[in-house]
Amino acid sequence: MARSSSRYVCQSCGSVSGRWSGKCEACEAWNSIVEEVGTASAAPIGGTKATAARAKLRTPPLALEQLTGGTPPQPRTSTGIHELDRALGGGLVAGGAVLLGGDPGIGKSTLLLQALGGVANGGHEVVYVSGEEGIDQIRGRAERLGLANAAVGLATATSADAAAATIKANRGLKLIVIDSIQTMYAEGVESAPGSVAQVRASAQVLITAAKQSNAALILVGHVTKDGAIAGPRVLEHMVDAVLYFEGDSSQHYRILRAVKNRFGPADALGVFEMTGLGLKEVPNPSTLFLAERQDRDPVTGAAVFAGFRGARPLLVEVQALVGNPSPASPRRAVVGWDSARLAMTLAVLESRAGLPFSGRDVFLSVAGGLKLEEPAADLAAAAALVSALLERPVPNESVFYGELALSGEVRPAPQAKSRLDEAERLGFSEAAVPGDAKSSKLRITKINRIDKLVQLIAAQPLLKAPKTSDWTDRYDD
Ligand code: TYD
Ligand code: MG
Repeated sequence: MARSSSRYVCQSCGSVSGRWSGKCEACEAWNSIVEEVGTASAAPIGGTKATAARAKLRTPPLALEQLTGGTPPQPRTSTGIHELDRALGGGLVAGGAVLLGGDPGIGKSTLLLQALGGVANGGHEVVYVSGEEGIDQIRGRAERLGLANAAVGLATATSADAAAATIKANRGLKLIVIDSIQTMYAEGVESAPGSVAQVRASAQVLITAAKQSNAALILVGHVTKDGAIAGPRVLEHMVDAVLYFEGDSSQHYRILRAVKNRFGPADALGVFEMTGLGLKEVPNPSTLFLAERQDRDPVTGAAVFAGFRGARPLLVEVQALVGNPSPASPRRAVVGWDSARLAMTLAVLESRAGLPFSGRDVFLSVAGGLKLEEPAADLAAAAALVSALLERPVPNESVFYGELALSGEVRPAPQAKSRLDEAERLGFSEAAVPGDAKSSKLRITKINRIDKLVQLIAAQPLLKAPKTSDWTDRYDD
């Protein structure tokens, strides 16, 4: 029974309700609910009509396959941009759909124009559909990027159906970029471009066409203030890979981060620099996340985490600042790390190693604007905190990794060898790590309990008057 009533769709998470409200009950976003009139699926699923229709259909059973099939590995097409290929898990997959999210102005169109140029220069057919910029604007940018002669098919259009028809009409098409999905509209859906219904319908039309034609599809999605791809969080489920392009547009560095990838590691990372000639790859990102370390005087409250991101090791400096005890309620702020993990680390340092953090302001920050997600970052954060409190530097040539348990034990991390190899390659000579890590060149201090870490740092020279003295005796011997 088709009802002509409206439905109310949250533009943030896509949940549907029967009435308008100021706040979405599903995702708690404010002012995100928009009325959509007369969409086809207003009839309740399982209604009498649907049941009757289903009874009439004689659906054949599924044709089953076996797990042990001879499926060849997915052939990959290089974009000519090594860092993008890496974030994609090794290049573009035929028929795969990728969503590239990022703030306006961060460089999504630039990156993709360079990728289109790269694929075209590899001798493949590519198409760029822009609903945001004019042909002249795109040509001007291509010229600046040195791609004026690349064979990239251009269209300024906002019809998803026309773009899908283009995909179907060009069977040899290797890559099509839609910039952006929020400007597209699909026939038969009444809501405005950018609404959840439009974005979902347009994406569906395009993804289906790309799968049928074996073309790789990249959808650009704008990101809202709170960091979600605007409207279509639903889109994340429809595509094979989700990449985010991040960074401070006032700075030059950009990080390309995979948050989902059906064809590769989900936490892959690529690093770029925005130059006058477009985006340049940064092949050695560890150097970027290590604040200026060479030739600097020893400082307290800084420790290097030997991390692992995607398929490669990544060294990152973690910095901490600890205040004197104050009667006001202490401030805890953290940038680039999880605040719950900071609270846990402080609690472990306090109750397992007797360090007095309570009543003090504590600040923790990760260099280079990176967000650390690995549990193995605990030990480096703890080292920075202990160093800041004790006013003693962390041994300058040292890297750290290890996950802190509430018991005070430190647990090993996967990929120990590549972490240590990267540290050695970047000139470090020591590592303070748990487990039985081995390295031919690095001197390894084994840290299996948190008090070992405190001992290590307490043995370093004092740089300033200590903030507190009552606990030091425990580690002086
Ligand atoms: P753009 O790719 O248009 O961003 P998005 O598509 O994510 O909105 O990038 C726009 C910014 O990049 C703009 O501020 C200018 C800058 N830029 C450069 O610095 N160098 C270049 O070669 C290009 C093409 C852009
Ligand atoms: Mg753009």
